[in-house]
Amino acid sequence: MSAKRILLVIGGGIAAYKSLELIRELGRRGIGTRAILTKAGTEFVTPLSVAALSGEKVYTELFSLTDETEMGHIELSRSADLLVVCPATADLMAKAVHGHANDLASTALLATDKPVLMVPAMNVRMWQHAATQRNIAQLRADGVTVMEPDVGPMACGEFGPGRLPEVSRIVAEIEAMLRPRSKRLTGRHALITAGPTREPLDPVRYISNHSSGKQGYGIAAALAAEGARVTLVSGPVSLPAPEGVDLIKVETAREMLKACEEALPVDIFVSVAAVADWRPVKAADKKLKLKGEGKTPTIELAENPDILRTISHKKKKRPALVIGFAAETHDVERHAQEKLARKGCDWIVANDVSGDVMGGLENEIALITRDGIDRWPRLPKDAVSTRLAEKIAEAFAGDEDGLSLAAE
Ligand SMILES: Cc1cc2nc3c(=O)[nH]c(=O)nc-3n(C[C@H](O)[C@H](O)[C@H](O)COP(=O)(O)O)c2cc1C
Repeated sequence: MSAKRILLVIGGGIAAYKSLELIRELGRRGIGTRAILTKAGTEFVTPLSVAALSGEKVYTELFSLTDETEMGHIELSRSADLLVVCPATADLMAKAVHGHANDLASTALLATDKPVLMVPAMNVRMWQHAATQRNIAQLRADGVTVMEPDVGPMACGEFGPGRLPEVSRIVAEIEAMLRPRSKRLTGRHALITAGPTREPLDPVRYISNHSSGKQGYGIAAALAAEGARVTLVSGPVSLPAPEGVDLIKVETAREMLKACEEALPVDIFVSVAAVADWRPVKAADKKLKLKGEGKTPTIELAENPDILRTISHKKKKRPALVIGFAAETHDVERHAQEKLARKGCDWIVANDVSGDVMGGLENEIALITRDGIDRWPRLPKDAVSTRLAEKIAEAFAGDEDGLSLAAE
């Protein structure tokens, strides 16, 4: 790797002192650091120690005539290969979401044309707050990489997620982001389904499930990052569309199938949606009323179309690579292998949803292909998405003819 540089924004968090270790570790690997320290950041580390470790002038002020003549704030924001915010405070992330530019750090984040990595660290309640989680989802949708914090005891005496990740993990992420991206799926079209479906009982009630759509949206974003043209067919979820992804919103399983069939031909189909197996035979056109006679209504169910099976068995326009997800609560791998055969897909991603996977941030999966089982460690859903996109890109690169010829 030729000499790379990062612009490090150090926010005002208790973990700011670890940014000094980060600068040193990056320096050992030949990665140069220029730093911006927020006003709050200077309460935790001094510009002098950051300058001593980075060997560079440290920037703190937006309105500085000296800095503007030496290196203006716009030039500063583009002077590096990557912007890293570490620690990323709740405040800095909120400002970035809204495009604030009222200090040097937020202005640099807004003015940059480089990739951005945020490494959050904060109290567990701040981390779990709906506002912070909403901001993180928006940042990711805007193309910012946000690392998952570590779980453990905190400086404030509480316990949970919110600790700054180990410096070695941050260094690994930075090195991965500095590696040139090959965009191996350029020219390929990927179709992803995500989220739950809603099967109406009457105008106000429906049958659905807890799927949040996070994994499917993550895979769509990761495939887009590999250069693929991505169509995402999504059931009702509260996530913003990932950058560069064509989002089609649907409600029911039948609408989802129709949208998928209309999107064909594609090279890759990844069926991540938790499609309802059944729907009420009749959706009442008026709200079903409680009659007070102690009688409960009987809901007759009909089977929904099997989207994965339908796409897998297309005679014409079958995607070259069809991947299903098997969400199981027990005997995960056995059920997944049966599903692979039954549905006629090429790969199955088996995940154990007996814990807090649905709606959670992490996933432990096994990738089942006709060649065998590849068991992955428990990973953040983002990392699962990146790995799967890499596997897909490798499959296309390694089997150029086989995979492309499979599509009619
Ligand atoms: C002792 C102390 C520790 C703090 N630690 C954190 C922290 O770890 N994470 C965080 O998001 N905010 C933390 N804060 C709050 C931030 O310092 C505050 O939101 C500040 O406005 C952040 O400014 P900045 O985002 O410009 O750096 C802490 C505040 C204090 C007083």
